[in-house]
Amino acid sequence: MSVTEVAPAKLNLALHVTGQRPDGYHLLDSLVVFAAAGDKLTLDAGPLSLSVDGPFASGLDEDDNLCLKAARLAGGQAAIRLTKTLPVAAGIGGGSADAAAVLRGLARMGVPIPDATERLGADLPVCLAARPARMRGVGEIIEPVPEMPDLRLVLVNPRVEMPTPQVFSALQRKDNAPLPAMPDRFDLPALVAYLQTCRNDLEAPAITLCPQIATVLRELRDAGALLARMSGSGATCFGIFTDASAAGLAAYRIGAAHENWWVTATGLAPPPQPV
Ligand code: C5P
Repeated sequence: MSVTEVAPAKLNLALHVTGQRPDGYHLLDSLVVFAAAGDKLTLDAGPLSLSVDGPFASGLDEDDNLCLKAARLAGGQAAIRLTKTLPVAAGIGGGSADAAAVLRGLARMGVPIPDATERLGADLPVCLAARPARMRGVGEIIEPVPEMPDLRLVLVNPRVEMPTPQVFSALQRKDNAPLPAMPDRFDLPALVAYLQTCRNDLEAPAITLCPQIATVLRELRDAGALLARMSGSGATCFGIFTDASAAGLAAYRIGAAHENWWVTATGLAPPPQPV
């Protein structure tokens, strides 16, 4: 038996840091969506193993990977092949999205999804759902959100890996307001207007560690983004564009001006296959 799962890029359209637990983990309130751009995982019956290929395979530790930890937590066996097309340490889920895809794949092979998946990573529960959601707590509270419009996005990463704990440490205020109440419906203008009342609280501290993020945001805005913001702890930023041709043109222009950056025009991911 062989199953294939996509691990879509997680995007924090808004991320407010609302507090900190005694163990140091931060309380978040985040509106999360998933982009069609993603890693690919194939699971074949057999003893547990992992091989990684794809443009961002180098540097990943195949022996100490979250995919293997996820399979062990589930008690599942499979030969896992991961095709890494998303940059790593990039604020778009990465290891959590891959590990969640392993758990979804194992579930389709008959291995139940384990409890307390947030122990594998704060983004694991939302990546398991892989559909638009509000994420609270340290990531363990996942709530439904109004249906999203068909977003046309450009994702840009300046090819700088961000150390998530250092970004949180550089945060000045940890007691920010939660997300404002959401409207009943999000068409594109309503979503953009809503997001303009929100922030990513990690953006400013990430820029102090990686000033190129400010350049990425400026390039997205100059290219016509209705809204440009960093995702997670960075350094990937997203721009929301009016339509696919505006997004495609912006991606082309930004990519041509910065050949070493990772730039992709994408939409929202379809919901995952039922398990
Ligand atoms: O859970 P994950 O491994 O993705 O988190 C990486 C690091 O990010 C944690 O060790 C912690 O320093 C920080 N973090 C946090 N609060 C969160 C999520 C992550 O402080 N809610």
